[in-house]
Amino acid sequence: MNAPAYVKHAKLKAWVQDMVDLCQPDHVHWCDGSDTEYQQLCQQLVEAGTFTPLNAHKRPHSFLARSDPSDVARVEDRTYICSARKEDAGPTNNWMDPQAMRDTLQPLFKGCMKGRTLYVVPFSMGPLGSPIAHIGIELSDSAYVAVNQRIMTRMGQAVFEVLGENGAFVPCVHSVGAPLAPGQQDVAWPCNPTKYIVHFPQTREIWSYGSGYGGNALLGKKCFALRIASTMGRDQGWLAEHMLILGLTSPQGKKYHVAAAFPSACGKTNFSMLVPPPGFDGWKVTTIGDDIAWIKPSQNGELRAINPEAGYFGVAPGTNFHTNPNCMASLDKNVIFTNVALTDDGDVWWEGMEKDSGHLPTHLIDWQGKDWTPEIARQTGSKAAHPNARFTVAATNNPALDAAWDDPAGVRIDAFIFGGRRSTTVPLVTQARNWTEGVYMAATMGSETTAAAAGQQGVVRRDPFAMLPFMGYNMSDYFQHWLNMGDTLKNTGATLPAIFCVNWFRKGEDGQFVWPGYGENMRVLKWMIDRIEGAAKGRENVFGISPTYEEITWDGLAFSAAQFESVMHIDKPAWREELQLHNSLFQQLAYHLPPELPATQNAIGLRLDA
Ligand code: GTP
Ligand code: SPV
Ligand code: MN
Repeated sequence: MNAPAYVKHAKLKAWVQDMVDLCQPDHVHWCDGSDTEYQQLCQQLVEAGTFTPLNAHKRPHSFLARSDPSDVARVEDRTYICSARKEDAGPTNNWMDPQAMRDTLQPLFKGCMKGRTLYVVPFSMGPLGSPIAHIGIELSDSAYVAVNQRIMTRMGQAVFEVLGENGAFVPCVHSVGAPLAPGQQDVAWPCNPTKYIVHFPQTREIWSYGSGYGGNALLGKKCFALRIASTMGRDQGWLAEHMLILGLTSPQGKKYHVAAAFPSACGKTNFSMLVPPPGFDGWKVTTIGDDIAWIKPSQNGELRAINPEAGYFGVAPGTNFHTNPNCMASLDKNVIFTNVALTDDGDVWWEGMEKDSGHLPTHLIDWQGKDWTPEIARQTGSKAAHPNARFTVAATNNPALDAAWDDPAGVRIDAFIFGGRRSTTVPLVTQARNWTEGVYMAATMGSETTAAAAGQQGVVRRDPFAMLPFMGYNMSDYFQHWLNMGDTLKNTGATLPAIFCVNWFRKGEDGQFVWPGYGENMRVLKWMIDRIEGAAKGRENVFGISPTYEEITWDGLAFSAAQFESVMHIDKPAWREELQLHNSLFQQLAYHLPPELPATQNAIGLRLDA
């Protein structure tokens, strides 16, 4: 197996040897994280047919990967939390007894890497060597995973220096589950119809089988930084959240930091790179993170947040120079695109880009490698890019990157935002009157499902804290953990972050979004700052505080009081139904449910009936 001399960690080497014995790869490659290595692996992926190099002038050093059409999203029904007790995984997770799961995985992993190379991918979630960072080692038989991990994490040789002889790491084993017989020709995107995404919280291990797609295969992201990290946070008094982190600087130079949770494909990347619209001269938004936040209380009662990632694995469709110019600028070079369409001049295309050019391309190769024309699309409704097509790009490509994005001390959080995708019922913005009410809002959040996960789309489901697919333990215990965090902060005498609930997605009778969204969300953000500064009084509604029309800055946007009313209106019958859905959630989560939550629900019910 021959570990490089700089690997001094005997236990790590023994584990790699055990996994080599189990998976039986033909070769073992210890990734050093160098640029040369990245180039070589990309070249190898080109030769294997996994990567198509893009036009070197239009999209320098960039590649397109097309996945197997069956392997395009996270597989929530194949994702398991194998804690010793079923109650500790809770009713929102798939659970299997740890030993039964090990017995299931053993035969699947036995010989699963035959004919392939096992890549040893050392990575740090968070700045290397920082006291808040944690290290993982992913063993994968996918070069696509290795190159993506180099962008998404701090990956390479330096990780072993931090680990030393006996540092702690999270072992992550990943196989596409497609061993090759001698002489067997490989396919461009190997994977297996049988999939398992498995977490052992007690031993902090991750095992993933059968998929090469993002969240299933880049194990530092959802598996480690959310599912395993959430259990570490519970045990150690911190939070691992599905949140973007942004910096907001006022014209007076005062800096605020906001962490916002939205479910998958519901606007985190967009919001984290927001460009303030005309009328907000002097306001500046900068990105700390676009998907995950690790948040720790400091001695003096601040909540300090870091982005454990080093890159963005973002949704391509819908991204254009109108919706997210900073993102488009980030994608001009050094990008890996997955499941977007290919133009005739070797560039990329996805739905939404016609808003920039003013027209559809006359011909494309779609995400499945087939011819696409506007005529074919009209007749069959087929999309050129898969709705969950993604880009992988380094954070350092982002022109709006915050100066403190890499600061090991993190940034101080002034406000939390929770936002679902709801066509009806939920108003544009509401502030919780206190921490408990905020936890209630987050816990009961509903959202329409998106293409980020396999399964039916557009159905409203409860997605507490936007963490439903990412919780590593019992959801009710997690609610309690949030309440406890509030108490800890209150005891220091510090001011707690304000908590808001938003909905950019309410639709009118014409089926169109009423709120213009994207950069215009700045108007909502500004009201939040006014609330924090005591400059906006707001008005009380049944479940919190909302802005009056006059309190929103409307410069540069024609949005009438009637339109505002249509995104703010609280429809009482709809809210009675909504509270019934909260009820069903609380019934499902009855075990360990904090009594503060049904109590808050009662109070809302009473105000609704008053
Ligand atoms: P994950 O990476 O899956 O966790 O998702 P994300 O929350 O980062 O999603 P992203 O920002 O990429 O959102 C993608 C989808 O949300 C696209 O369909 C966008 O067009 C849509 N979207 C984002 N912001 C807005 C908004 O303000 N208004 C409306 N109507 N749509 C938005
Ligand atoms: C999500 O689905 O929330 C993502 C993309 O951020 S993935 O990493 O594939 O899970
Ligand atoms: Mn996400």
